[in-house]
Amino acid sequence: MPESKLTLDTITSLAKRRGFIFQSSEIYGGLASCWDFGPLGVELKNNVKNLWWKTMVRMRDDVVGMDSSILMHPDVWVASGHVGAFHDMLVDCLNCKTRTREDQLENGKCPRCGGAEFTAPQKFQLMFQTHAGSTETGKMDVWLRPETCQGIFVDFKQVQSVSRMKVPFGIAQIGKAFRNEVTTKSFIFRSREFEQMEMEFFCKPETADEWYESWRQVRWNFYVNALGVNESNLRWAPHAQEHLAHYARAAVDIEYQFPFGWHEIEGIHNRTDFDLKAHQEHSGKSLLYHDQETNEKFIPWVIETSAGVERSILVTIIDAYAEDEVGGEARNLLKFHPDVAPVKVAVFPLQKKGGMEEVAMPLFRDLQERWNCQYDVAGNIGRRYRRQDEIGTPFCVTVDFDSLEDKAATIRDRDTTEQVRIGLDNVKSWLFERLK
Ligand code: GAP
Repeated sequence: MPESKLTLDTITSLAKRRGFIFQSSEIYGGLASCWDFGPLGVELKNNVKNLWWKTMVRMRDDVVGMDSSILMHPDVWVASGHVGAFHDMLVDCLNCKTRTREDQLENGKCPRCGGAEFTAPQKFQLMFQTHAGSTETGKMDVWLRPETCQGIFVDFKQVQSVSRMKVPFGIAQIGKAFRNEVTTKSFIFRSREFEQMEMEFFCKPETADEWYESWRQVRWNFYVNALGVNESNLRWAPHAQEHLAHYARAAVDIEYQFPFGWHEIEGIHNRTDFDLKAHQEHSGKSLLYHDQETNEKFIPWVIETSAGVERSILVTIIDAYAEDEVGGEARNLLKFHPDVAPVKVAVFPLQKKGGMEEVAMPLFRDLQERWNCQYDVAGNIGRRYRRQDEIGTPFCVTVDFDSLEDKAATIRDRDTTEQVRIGLDNVKSWLFERLK
């Protein structure tokens, strides 16, 4: 088959057609950059988050988890620097009235109409604001958090003491973040409501460079080994010293080659002691760590790994997308890593009648105990295979006429389409070997 160039439209329409992701409040015309995850999307999302949690928290002795509140005291965002610095400078084109980020003008021209005259730049706050409390006098202006990590910094002392962790150690969390993004294209890549998977690793200042290097490698391996992303579609993008964020001493992004170019999917930052120091100063509470062995008191330095759930999901779908030919017919499939695949196994009785359902249904119920599975009796077997290929189900198990006699079923592999005959009693263990 001729090689086709994958476009974001292909992915967006597959995601919608098969119930992964669709526009939020679509029946009202949608809301820009807000997305809903359907039955398969939520499974995929949970798998990605669970893999992150497993590799970053459960399998590590030096990281603990937490889940902080989305709404926080407004002073948190003053201390973090967001109230003062988290904004874009916007200009309006005097010709076509399009609003653009000043840094996204193309050679000083409007990207829409090429006009060169603009209003004076205006500050646009990227945090969403809301009000806590019910009365006019008693209410407080609060922000929807634009990143999850501030909850970790603010709770650093509590988590450290209740978990009895000693520096070096990390605190991880997964949760919603909100940004009033100006540029709203590229599907879920830039959403206004999204989830982050962040880990803040607290260490002695003199060990920070070493930990930075080690976390870089851990995070690269996550995409390759846990999510099964093709390494040639990933690259490092170090931040130039003059472009570092106000809090960072060193920073590097992991970028993915999207159909719309290379873009950041995760940032690894050496944040120094900036955040803990700022919160100590603004709250007036000590955030010093007491090293019992050396009797030293100091503010730890922080290495941060910050990944977006939506960007990881987009990467897994794009990277898994493939087109080939089976029996002379074109097919498209998602070659998901088994750990990522939203449905692991599909069970088909070849026909509704003839006693096949009586065998297939108990088998399905048994497999369902272990994995997310689908049961499908509709349409010819070829179409049922195609439906599963398109959503990336690694294995399909078919119960046919012969199953009633030989007490076996046919298992078909998504990628090779090869089929093997396995005794019904061994189907689960056979699958377990390949899906574990
Ligand atoms: N605490 C550091 C921090 O938030 P960031 O580079 O602004 O750093 C980290 O964001 C990650 O969060 C990004 O690499 C990206 O994966 C994700 N992210 C940021 N803004 C996003 C958006 N508008 N939509 C989807 N994901 C986003």
